[in-house]
Amino acid sequence: MTSVGIETHRSSAAGLIIRQKEPTNLEMPFDHVDSYLTPTELFYIRSHFPAPRIDVASYRLRIDGAVKSPLALSYKELREMQSETRIATLECAGNGRVFLVPQVRGAQWELGAVGNAEWTGVPLRALLERAGLEDDACEVVLEGADRGMPTEEPKPPVPISYVRSVPREKAAQPEVLIAYQMNGRDLSRDHGYPVRAIVPGHYGMASVKWLTRIQAVREPFQGYWQTSDYGYWDSLDGKPVRRPLAEMQLKSAIARPSVYETLLPNRMYTVFGAAWAGESVATEIAVSTDGGQTWAEAEFLDPVCRYAWRRWKFEWPTPKQPGQYTLLARAKDANGTVQPDAHDWNYGTYVISHLLPIEVIVEDLARPEGSGVS
Ligand code: MTE
Repeated sequence: MTSVGIETHRSSAAGLIIRQKEPTNLEMPFDHVDSYLTPTELFYIRSHFPAPRIDVASYRLRIDGAVKSPLALSYKELREMQSETRIATLECAGNGRVFLVPQVRGAQWELGAVGNAEWTGVPLRALLERAGLEDDACEVVLEGADRGMPTEEPKPPVPISYVRSVPREKAAQPEVLIAYQMNGRDLSRDHGYPVRAIVPGHYGMASVKWLTRIQAVREPFQGYWQTSDYGYWDSLDGKPVRRPLAEMQLKSAIARPSVYETLLPNRMYTVFGAAWAGESVATEIAVSTDGGQTWAEAEFLDPVCRYAWRRWKFEWPTPKQPGQYTLLARAKDANGTVQPDAHDWNYGTYVISHLLPIEVIVEDLARPEGSGVS
């Protein structure tokens, strides 16, 4: 699927926003979203440590732990296995953090730590079948080759690698890939070359890059990246308990207009955005141009494809009356869930899936040019 011919005012070759130079953390300017598949050069990069350099000739992917026959596959052996290609949206769990009030610590992602790409690789379950997963394995731990000292407290006593577990049930689903290609080309170094996991429907932190080890475990894994970081408060019998972040929450975001964009009065403007829904699918999208007082249905541009976003548009006759207007988009999924109005602070600085206001200025054409106050 390619662009649907939406009028676009920016070229897709434009650059990413630098959130951090080293390790590399780059954001897609969300108002550049146009095509269904995000071009690789526009796709956000979220790395906790400098990207490791991996020599493919000596690379081995170990599959061990609670398995009957541990394996160590070379890159060539992995590429010779039967592959699958799937489209999946990855969103960083901190995407939209800049919208939180009061301001919170962490990279100040706007809307563009999200992208939709085509991934090619071997289903994780094929590898687990080959190694013979033991019946009592409850999780699969994915380990990357990158190492360093994390920044969030409580910090571990020694440098660690980036490691995250996937529940057994999810690891056995056909959509979870051990991928070596993105958008039809070998992974770039920043996106995990030579091999990474893709866990569709889960926040991006589950899709471990520079993957070197897949370890089946019999006890829930309690590593740094799912306890100190990337965790949230759930409730068990009325008592707060800490759990690892997993499934992406339903979300829609407005790509155009962008915040404080100036629009002409009394013209047709195409409001444009995208919606995605974790393990469900976005089935309805509504837009408000008056800060949430009234809502009108928007139109999806892409068919339902589980785990992939759906772009949408809404034709807005801009008001004759100049002034500031607040635009909102609200998605509903196949389970009837609707995006919440406010952030759920049990998620802390993550899961920013509430309605995000986009304020725009409708210009006063009667006002003489240059009379603006700076
Ligand atoms: N894997 C490793 N090894 N190291 C990392 O820092 N970051 C995770 C995940 N996988 C990370 C990782 C996070 S938080 C996200 S959101 C995604 O990678 C981002 O993938 P991308 O950089 O290809 O967009």
